Parts: sequence; structure tokens; C-alpha cells
Amino acid sequence: MIYLDHHATTPVDRRVLEVMQPYFTTMFGNPASRTHRAGWDAAEAVERARKQMAALAGASAREIVFTSGATESNYLAIAGVAAATPPERRHAVTVATEHMAVLDVFAQLAADGWTVTVLPVGASGLLDPDDLGRALTPRTSLVSVMVANNEIGVLQPLADITRRAHAQGALVHTDAAQALGRTRLDVRALDVDLASFSAHKVYGPKGVGALYVKRGVEPRLRAPMRGGGQERGLRGGTLNVPGVAGFGAACEMARQELDAEAERLGGLRDRLWQRLQELVGGVSLNGVLSPRLPGNLNVTFADVDGEALLLALTDVAVSSGSACTTSQPSHVLTSLGRSAADALASLRFGLGRATRAEDIDRAASHVAEVVTYLRASSPRWQLARTARSNERPST
Ligand SMILES: Cc1ncc(COP(=O)(O)O)c(C=O)c1O
Repeated sequence: MIYLDHHATTPVDRRVLEVMQPYFTTMFGNPASRTHRAGWDAAEAVERARKQMAALAGASAREIVFTSGATESNYLAIAGVAAATPPERRHAVTVATEHMAVLDVFAQLAADGWTVTVLPVGASGLLDPDDLGRALTPRTSLVSVMVANNEIGVLQPLADITRRAHAQGALVHTDAAQALGRTRLDVRALDVDLASFSAHKVYGPKGVGALYVKRGVEPRLRAPMRGGGQERGLRGGTLNVPGVAGFGAACEMARQELDAEAERLGGLRDRLWQRLQELVGGVSLNGVLSPRLPGNLNVTFADVDGEALLLALTDVAVSSGSACTTSQPSHVLTSLGRSAADALASLRFGLGRATRAEDIDRAASHVAEVVTYLRASSPRWQLARTARSNERPST
């Protein structure tokens, strides 16, 4: 099987696993234990990881709060700001193509009586900053826009978004789970106030993440979960030390390899797109090709049954949308203007560290074979083909 679903998750890098192992067994201390060596060793591992994570995102170590993943980080950021916001500023803005880990929290804000604006995107997948400008009011306290989309990989114009939101006194949160380690990311240059990250998207373990909280923003955040006072009172509970150590090591590796890997993956992604267009007709791209994550491609195959397509693709691991909502048409693709049927007949390819050129060629051939086979037995495709040939002027 060729694994091309790196937006859903990545394998733990063996080098990362090696860093993690001692913290399960010999160096098992609680980082909050201040009275003995075991605790000091664990605390040292956590602080090293904090520096490594911060370095990959352009933050300083004291601005990083470790969590259980990007879902928790999103919740801490959005629900945390909401809890600290006075009633007269209960307006928040987000975008239709956000991950459900953001949209669900916004739905909760709306149920709690907040005014919530969910901005549309164009067929490009990009938010028009002018739409944001029109949505902002002096009541807006929070804007949440992701850096890189988890399905179509497009990169939102975050610096512009932040500038406009700050002019109205609103805080900006970004879900950067897909961007970290895949594209150059500098939270300080983007000037965001809060940013969410996940270890398992960067060859680290599952169940670990982080929230960047810009210096000075803490008073505008009230932790929704209390107890223990760890992580500066923002996230109680004993830290997952092996996981945190692994996250740090994964960030360090991603930082060293980022530029070369981004270039390599960009080349492979372009090769995949080229091959698919050569081998299959009726294929179209979702979202702009640039700016986009280098390892992402999302395409729709006209007149193919989406469910049959996924079932027939036995040799390639891909998905038709977010891993969290696979049986539904993707809300991201329908937000771009795709029909439900087209959204289901779409594939998200996520290339990763182990992907090689031969995998790309094999994957493209396999997809082409399956699509051709399904179309041959599809009355829809036959009808569409006849309609197209009837439209052609006769010679
Ligand atoms: C953009 C985005 N946000 C949030 C998440 C959730 O991350 P986690 O699995 O670490 O909770 C994911 C991954 O599924 C994602 O792609």
C-alpha cells in the first residue's frame, strides 16, 4: 500500500521514537517533582522540547503551552478567549473551510449567545481579506483563520487578516496543525496571538500538541479546564513527558529538513498532478495550486461514484476529505462550490517523508485504472460523454 494520507497523520519517525523511549522507563519522573533527580530529568526534557517546538514556529519557549493535540489547543484558545470576554464584545469570526475542531467550538459560542460570522471562500479556497474587513466591528473579540487547509492545502493570507483584526482590537487565533513543519511558519511575522499545533502531523506521536500564546495575551484567556496549575495554569494535568519529548525532537528534525523536504515534495506533487492529467480525463483541481502546502493535491474526478472510488482504491491510502468526516461530502469542497456528488468523487493526496517518485507513478496509474474502470460501468459517464460528443461541431 502506498500511504498518501499524511494530512490525516504521519508515522512516528524512528529517530523520534528513540528520543521518547527512555521517558517511558528509566527517566519516568514527573516534571512537576522538584525534589529529586527523576523530576529534574523529566522537566529538562519538557523544557528542551518547548524550545524545539518554539523554534520551529518562530515563538519563544515561554509562549508554548503543551496540550493533548490541536483539537485541545483550538478549544483552549477559542473557548478560553470566550470565557474572558465581556458580554458587549461577543462577536467572533471564522471561515467556512476551517477544521471541525474550530467550527464546532464556534457553534458552541453561537449556542451560548455569541454573534458568529462564518466567512465564505471563493473557488480558490482563499478568504478575501476585504470580506473580513467588512465583517469586523468594534464588538469583535476573536478571529480564527487556519494557516494551511487540511484538505486542499491552500495557505490563507494571514498577515493581512491579522493586521485588519488587530486594527479593530480583536485577537487572532490560527489553527496551524497542517502548516507546522511543512511550510515556513513564523507566528511573530504573522503577528497572530494564538496558534495551535499537533505532534502527529510532523512525525511525532499522537495525543500531543501545543498552543502558542503570545506574550501579553494570557490575561485575555481563561482556561476552560482547571486543576493542578501546570503549564502556567492554562493546562492542568501531568504532562505526557515521552510524547512531549518526541514532539520536540520531531520539531527539531522538521526544522532542519524543512526547506529541502518542501522542495522535494513540491516536485513530487507536481509530478502527480501532471500524471493524473495525462492518464485520466475529466480531472480538476480543488483550490489554487499556489500558495499551497507542497505535499498536497486535491482533485475531483468527473462522473465517478465517490464511494465506489474509495472502495476500489486498494493499493493507495488516500481520503476524500478530513479523516474525521469521511462518509459525508466534504464541507471544504462544498464551500468551494462543488456539488455533494463531486465532493465525494474527490481525492485528497498528502505526500510525506517516505514518498518517492515511483510511489507517485504507481499511485497515479492505479487511480487512473480505477477511475477508467468505474466510468466504463457508469451510465452517468456514458451519458456525459455522449452529450459532450453531440456538442462538438461536425466536420
Ligand atoms: C487543521 C487541523 N486542525 C486540527 C486537527 C486535530 O488535531 P489533533 O488530532 O492533534 O487533535 C487536525 C488533524 O486532524 C487538523 O488537520
